[in-house]
Amino acid sequence: MKHLEINLKNTLPFIDEEEYRNYEKKVLEQEEKIATKSGKGSDFLGWVDLPVNISKEFLQDINNTADLLKEISDFVVVVGIGGSYLGSKAVIEALTGQFDYLKTKKENPHVLFAGQNLSEDYHYELLDFLKDKRYSVVVISKSGTTTEPAIAFRLLRKDLEERFGKEEAAKRIVAVTDASKGALRNLTDQENYKSFVIADDIGGRYSVLTPVGLLPIACAGFNIEALIEGAKAMKEISEKNTFRENPVYQYAAIRNILYSKDKTTEILANYNPRLSYMAEWWKQLYGESEGKENKGIFPASVSFTTDLHSLGQYIQEGLRNIFETVISVEKTNYTLNVTKDKENFDKLNYLAGKPYDYINRMAELGTTLAHVDGGVPNIKIILPQISDYYLGELIYFFEKACAISGYLLDINPFDQPGVEAYKNNMFALLEKPGFEEQTKKIKTRIS
Ligand code: PA5
Repeated sequence: MKHLEINLKNTLPFIDEEEYRNYEKKVLEQEEKIATKSGKGSDFLGWVDLPVNISKEFLQDINNTADLLKEISDFVVVVGIGGSYLGSKAVIEALTGQFDYLKTKKENPHVLFAGQNLSEDYHYELLDFLKDKRYSVVVISKSGTTTEPAIAFRLLRKDLEERFGKEEAAKRIVAVTDASKGALRNLTDQENYKSFVIADDIGGRYSVLTPVGLLPIACAGFNIEALIEGAKAMKEISEKNTFRENPVYQYAAIRNILYSKDKTTEILANYNPRLSYMAEWWKQLYGESEGKENKGIFPASVSFTTDLHSLGQYIQEGLRNIFETVISVEKTNYTLNVTKDKENFDKLNYLAGKPYDYINRMAELGTTLAHVDGGVPNIKIILPQISDYYLGELIYFFEKACAISGYLLDINPFDQPGVEAYKNNMFALLEKPGFEEQTKKIKTRIS
């Protein structure tokens, strides 16, 4: 069976072999810190063994819960922000046909999202859309106190209770939260909602393979067992393979080598728009894990060839602080060849009979070579296909590489102290009880 691979050939013009060799020892030291739980933030390593620890019975419970929601819903609204929504959104978008949302007859409910922003218009439009629909809510918050999802859940819960009555509404709400702490846990216990627990040792951005990601993915009708199997395979590869054969080690090492050469921005590129949200998940994983202590690679993303007609110019000739990581999908899900035109009015008959994907591949190859010539190193991640199994491999690959890469940077890849700054200002401005002093201070700044 094929597995995810990495190809570093197009980084070689930018690095010394010696330098690369030196990283073997450094990477293995970080792996040791993970294995012995002796590195920074080691209380948050629960994701490491998740793919092997998760039981069949637990997955069955998630699938059964999803089935109950599916029976009574045409739409499932997932309420959550950051790590509590990006992973499921990324997997669902990657596995869903791109026009499925326009189909009137659907086998599985359509998964919608709420509480991932504070937009009044977004939430008004969502409630307005749902007003005559059969829907359920999966509310996800590890802390159980995050403002964005809490406000959205207030609105949705009220709507469900008014439309279906309290008892029926309770059957349409499933919570994923802490085992004992937080406002959401208290409400869940009080209202007797079905719930799943987010373990204390797994942070939001590493939680896609817990019920945080698995329940919404199961509601959308996808195979969570296969996703976990893929993650398990990548865990084994990352633990058994030698440095040279280990995609996780290679990715962690090369991005740190490039960073040490002032390549401070990494652009994750795809040539298949189904992967756009995977990039959003990746941006949170790497941005929140590494961007601290005035260090870290800035994670950005593009969808090619679309963005070659917008950001392509900058990547080719702008500031030379960029490297590119391409997720290259080997096999398409469908076949579509270019048609022959009798008049050849656009002079494209030379492509007639060629698969669309062949042209996409040539665009990818041409772009890579052009960017390398322009001073942009290129890392290629080869994904055999977009499937539940291979997305599991990809997720674990990025998670493990992120932990190693963060340790190489000598930061704690599992905390996010910087996220509190905006919250404190917002609470002060909203005059939240307990923030009186901060409110006074902030008012002097804005008067
Ligand atoms: O990665 C993280 O920890 C964050 O992005 C959180 O997931 C996000 O802030 C949401 O937190 P919570 O699940 O507690 O509502």
